[in-house]
Amino acid sequence: MKIAILSNGTGNYSTKRLKEVAIARGHEVKVIKYRDCYASIEKNNQTVSYRGEDLSKFDAIIPRIASHMTKYGTAIVRQLEMQGVYAISSSIAITRSRDKLRSMQLLAKAGVGIPKTVFSRNSADIDDLIDKLGGTPVIIKLARGTHGNGVVLAESKKAAKSVLQAFYLTNEDGTNVLIQEFIKESAGTDIRAFVVGGRVVASMKRQSLDDDFRSNLHKGGEGTIVKLTDEERKMAIKAAKAMGLHVAGVDLMRSANGPLVLEVNASPGFGIEKITGRDVATPIIEYVERNAKRRNKKDSVGA
Ligand SMILES: Nc1ncnc2c1ncn2[C@@H]1O[C@H](COP(=O)(O)OP(=O)(O)O)[C@@H](O)[C@H]1O
Ligand SMILES: [Mg+2]
Repeated sequence: MKIAILSNGTGNYSTKRLKEVAIARGHEVKVIKYRDCYASIEKNNQTVSYRGEDLSKFDAIIPRIASHMTKYGTAIVRQLEMQGVYAISSSIAITRSRDKLRSMQLLAKAGVGIPKTVFSRNSADIDDLIDKLGGTPVIIKLARGTHGNGVVLAESKKAAKSVLQAFYLTNEDGTNVLIQEFIKESAGTDIRAFVVGGRVVASMKRQSLDDDFRSNLHKGGEGTIVKLTDEERKMAIKAAKAMGLHVAGVDLMRSANGPLVLEVNASPGFGIEKITGRDVATPIIEYVERNAKRRNKKDSVGA
């Protein structure tokens, strides 16, 4: 099979692992920097090219779109999908996962546990909304933050109001802001479940090493292997499905009321392989092998 890995980080560990596994399984593989792809749109004639090469000849693409390049990356993926190229992660599912508010709405609708979440542009309503969450402290987060940036803990209603105002002031028509109950019993710890094709293939616990409530590895968190409960495993699989993702990094917290999903990542890092000793690259290539022939299924998430 001819497989293209869409990644700007040609030297990334994830890119290298996908490439090496695909080659070992007998595929022809090319790593393509999607930021250098260009496209032409004409009636009944669309093309995506990379260094003079037409990409429609690939049987499958594995998008590894960075969050700061979601718009350009998903536009390239979308055009390839329209030409009938199989994408293991669809452009619409990637876009969806990059918006935490949209994700919370979809997960809640699918019956996946999430931290109680409210949103409002109007800080006058905030007292009321925070009461709905059970009072302070609360977590305030930008719908499009990553790596723990744009996630703030507000200890009082007054602080929450200022943060909300500041967040909305700096992005008039930009990203939305969520207010969430603070899951204090699990502060500084979360769980990453790596889901491929409806199966959890690796899972780790991340723990912040200082007193930060955020456990992101980018914020200095440390990962260790963890065994999921049945409930957690089922919830992670359900969350990936609700988002329409066949490859997903589902982040969850162990709350007093059971597992709660924080977010679902469309291009989860492969550092989890080093932490858990599990191979996540092979299941991804196997999934492509099983599904590329069937072409893209219609997205059925509906939002
Ligand atoms: N409602 C919450 N209660 C407690 N901790 C939270 C909550 N939401 C997020 N966190 C902490 O902050 C980290 C970053 O939040 P997350 O929503 O995953 O955003 P990001 O995309 O920036 O990683 C989480 O990994 C978790 O440790
Ligand atoms: Mg996160």
